[in-house]
Amino acid sequence: MKSKTYLSINEKKIEVDTEKSILENALLHKIKINHSCGQMGTCGTCRVEVLNFDEQIIQNLLAPRNEIENEMANDRGFNDNERLSCQTYPVADLKIKTSDHS
Ligand code: FES
Repeated sequence: MKSKTYLSINEKKIEVDTEKSILENALLHKIKINHSCGQMGTCGTCRVEVLNFDEQIIQNLLAPRNEIENEMANDRGFNDNERLSCQTYPVADLKIKTSDHS
């Protein structure tokens, strides 16, 4: 039996479908994350901060950046724990904060 994966967005916890991006999962649960390019990875408005980030276990928590996200991360100087929610898939339990949430 497949174990469940959870995502905490601004402290609201949801069960996620690991085949969908963080943004798609959030929208399915009616959680707002800004996005304005149709999830193409070109606007950067869906940027989120991963709070339970640990470099030692990063490979287990997040899939590596794809080419689109990598290019934006380099252009805009993302920290290692900042990800585009439309390009990132939750492969393990994550806690994230949206850019418009303090
Ligand atoms: S929605 Fe535009 S980069 Fe993610």
